[in-house]
Amino acid sequence: MEVANVLHMTEGIGDCSYAKNSLFQQKVILMTKSITDEAISALYRSLSTGETICIAELGCSSGPNTFLPVSQLIQTIREECTSNGQQLPEFHVFLNDLPGNDFNTIFRLLPTFHEDLKKQNMRSGDGLLFDPPNCFVAGVAGSFYTRLFPSKKLHFVHSSYSLHWLSQVPDGIENNKGTIYAASTSPSSVLKAYSKQYERDFATFLKYRSEELVEGGRMVLTMPGRENEHHLSNVCRFMLEPLAIALKDLVTEGLIEEEKVNSFNFPLYCPSPAEIKYIVEKEGSFTIDLLKTLEHQMDFSCEGYNEAQSVRVVGQPLLVRHFGDDDKLMDVVFNKCSDIYANIMANEKNIFTNVIVSLIKRND
Ligand SMILES: C[S@@+](CC[C@H](N)C(=O)[O-])C[C@H]1O[C@@H](n2cnc3c(N)ncnc32)[C@H](O)[C@@H]1O
Repeated sequence: MEVANVLHMTEGIGDCSYAKNSLFQQKVILMTKSITDEAISALYRSLSTGETICIAELGCSSGPNTFLPVSQLIQTIREECTSNGQQLPEFHVFLNDLPGNDFNTIFRLLPTFHEDLKKQNMRSGDGLLFDPPNCFVAGVAGSFYTRLFPSKKLHFVHSSYSLHWLSQVPDGIENNKGTIYAASTSPSSVLKAYSKQYERDFATFLKYRSEELVEGGRMVLTMPGRENEHHLSNVCRFMLEPLAIALKDLVTEGLIEEEKVNSFNFPLYCPSPAEIKYIVEKEGSFTIDLLKTLEHQMDFSCEGYNEAQSVRVVGQPLLVRHFGDDDKLMDVVFNKCSDIYANIMANEKNIFTNVIVSLIKRND
């Protein structure tokens, strides 16, 4: 399956959209703000005054999370300018996702984004009035595992909760029966195949971004991950285990064939910091400024979160592609997931591990 042609989060801004079911991902963006702030401030200080700052948000999806990191970055630079008595630079912002992404919703949200920027810049902390920044926004459709920008175009790349999507389901995992991801029950050859696919994909990502970033340019990348090689990802398990159980139930009930479930796997992999360090050092274009895991706790019951819906808005296109376009079947699958979350997973401690890496482009 060519992931780039199939994957997209559920479009629009209705109750069943990604925009309305991405609180989990939003928490991660907010939690990593101080690290992103430090990286953009350091970058800003390294540029000559007045230079237009080119920022790319990769895997931006559509909804509030598309604009949140960019607003935060601009606000941080504004604060830098205020304390140094400098004029705000201009910004060129590129919002990237796969071609199936709902770019129309992004463009419709643009006036609100500009309005918010204006409000943010009306008055700084010390009471000074600022003109709103000139911020030019463009959509860029394409896979971040390919070249997306001209050489040495970008100053800053940000990506959150997107780089755990692989370019394809790894080859040679036909023996991953009874589950749909790199699970604790998967044979070791399957875990190795996932890890190798991640290594290939992430190295490709680094190579292309290194061509597009200026020297000294920076990237801050966050993805669901795992503490070390001895643990599997709790985010992957939380998202995909109920789905795996639901699909197995449907086989028992005769609604889908066992073979169909056995041949379905998600192109998702959650790396450890050690894997990221190994790939970055081997690829060689970047130095690591910071690499760490951050834990994030969700109290789903308090936050009125619909876990099954949050998995549906992410995973349904891949399921439809494999099992057929059958709304009723999808309702049955995700109703089962809802029950599993309510009855089995509700009692578990929902602490999730994320990996964040801040990188600086080396001189050529
Ligand atoms: C879970 S969403 C995260 C969106 C947003 N960054 C957030 O934090 O809410 C992951 C996004 O990554 C995008 N994505 C996955 N693989 C991609 C690729 N190869 N190139 C560009 N975008 C990709 C998906 O289409 C999806 O919109």
